[in-house]
Amino acid sequence: MSTTKYWVQALKTAKKNFNKLFHKEAIPDRRFVDNKFGKYEVVRPWQVSDQNTVPAYIPHPPYSKYMQLNKGLLKPEIKNENQIQCMRDSCDMAKEVLSQAKQFIKPGVTTDFLNDKIHEMIISNGAYPSPLNYRGFPKSICTSINNVACHGIPDNRPLLEGDTLNIDITVYLNGYHGDCSDMFVVGKADEEANRLINITDLCLWEAIKTCKPNENFSSIGNIIEDTARKHGFNVIPALMGHGIGNYFHGPPDVLHFANNKPGKMQPGMTFTIEPCLTQGDVEVEILEDGWTVVTVDEARTAQIEHTILITQNGCDVLTFK
Ligand code: MF3
Ligand code: CO
Ligand code: CO
Repeated sequence: MSTTKYWVQALKTAKKNFNKLFHKEAIPDRRFVDNKFGKYEVVRPWQVSDQNTVPAYIPHPPYSKYMQLNKGLLKPEIKNENQIQCMRDSCDMAKEVLSQAKQFIKPGVTTDFLNDKIHEMIISNGAYPSPLNYRGFPKSICTSINNVACHGIPDNRPLLEGDTLNIDITVYLNGYHGDCSDMFVVGKADEEANRLINITDLCLWEAIKTCKPNENFSSIGNIIEDTARKHGFNVIPALMGHGIGNYFHGPPDVLHFANNKPGKMQPGMTFTIEPCLTQGDVEVEILEDGWTVVTVDEARTAQIEHTILITQNGCDVLTFK
């Protein structure tokens, strides 16, 4: 190699490493597809800014400082009136914040900006944004775009016209978590994206309709998979709903695919249903950041989530407006 060539190469490498280390212009290679799934960007992580802080006077969940998780409940908890009221309050706030998020979504806005706005809203209401530091998660909400199935980390990528975006918000209030997510389109999206979102919503609500005392938890997955397939979509089996309470995730696992796992719903149980449907195959992978879940075939996905309470004669959707 000539001396000049050597230095050009060396400088390139140095610059690349500098950018990596100091998070300058860390823009990944961008790729747009126009195929049977639609016309969209295959999204990869961009640059993540520093963590937001939560004032000390706001009660923090136990995992926020030490990596301590819940003390392993073995079966779904039956909540008393007090605990149910706490769940109602945290879920009310989660749904209110999620509905406020909508106003900020437009082309050019970054998910980092959405994270900051929502973080502010949550702490100004006296709650803690549950994802922050949960198993080391670096931000206050999850934002998952196009081929990102879930757990996307807010970053400095500006939203593009036609993006499909999931915002997942969980708040910790009075010692209890409330968890919900919804899909948004940036500007206008293509026909298939809208159909995917509508069918995901349909699947969730078909499942919710079956929820009542003595119903099998497996009914949820059976109806979701059935409904998704009827409309030509697949359910990503790796992504499950969960029991929720003074813990973020606990029993039961709520499977979204056809199954006959034992377990029945009882009054006082609270859990999430959060099906994630894909236009393509069900395989997903986790990227090097340890969080971002993407589809292997780069198909787009949609996920919508509610927290449910089983009542004496049916269920309440605690995060429904
Ligand atoms: N809110 C997500 C769920 O529905 C969990 C996010 S965990 C995080 O279960 F650490 F990624 F925030
Ligand atoms: Co969630
Ligand atoms: Co959840």
